Amino acid sequence: MTGSSPIALEDRGQTGARMSSPSAGRNRDVIAAALASVLPQGSRVLEIASGTGEHALACVTERTDLHWQPSDPDPASRASIDDWAREAGGRIAPALDLDTQQSGWWQAVPLPLSAVFCANMIHIAPWEAAEGLVAGSAALLEESGQLVLYGPFLEGDATAPSNLAFDASLKSRDPRWGVRARDEVEALAASCGFALTQRLDMPANNLVLVFVKGAP
Ligand SMILES: C[S@@+](CC[C@H](N)C(=O)[O-])C[C@H]1O[C@@H](n2cnc3c(N)ncnc32)[C@H](O)[C@@H]1O
Repeated sequence: MTGSSPIALEDRGQTGARMSSPSAGRNRDVIAAALASVLPQGSRVLEIASGTGEHALACVTERTDLHWQPSDPDPASRASIDDWAREAGGRIAPALDLDTQQSGWWQAVPLPLSAVFCANMIHIAPWEAAEGLVAGSAALLEESGQLVLYGPFLEGDATAPSNLAFDASLKSRDPRWGVRARDEVEALAASCGFALTQRLDMPANNLVLVFVKGAP
């Protein structure tokens, strides 16, 4: 069965609770490999906006030392995450109901954590969702903790035409949405004590950005 999911801007396949995202099917292996290259051994990762849960399973399959805490504000997504998680041998915790636009959202998150990961959320949500994500990550992480973002970004004249078109398409759906400028995300992160330490080019003009709390 295939259903339309406005939160994901794509048709997701569904079997029981388990959903499959075409885009996650394309990018989960490269995301898992990129995260494997940046996360220290034994990292405890909070994933914001986990969606179907396919990235969570790919990441803990690639790196069996990781402990993963997924989350999503959408109940159907949490059911899907928990269904995929049954294949992970207990290294994916039950999905939390976290919405970074809610004040104090981070207070429900079990500690300790060493990283926060968020893919493909800040452009499909108001800017306040990005502000809440960064503020909450600063509250949750100790010095040297990592905030890792995946998705499309605007980079001035170097921006890929496909990302400019995607930005226009998002804004036509909701003027509060839009592909975020990398320098504005960097400034937001800096205001909460994070510095950009790595920028990884990913397929289809996406980036992985690694911010580290307290880095110079
Ligand atoms: C495009 S999907 C991305 C899902 C997954 N990360 C991926 O890359 O396949 C966007 C997700 O963001 C979630 N979301 C939207 N607003 C949010 C917010 N303010 N806080 C946390 N998650 C949010 C939605 O429920 C949805 O699952």
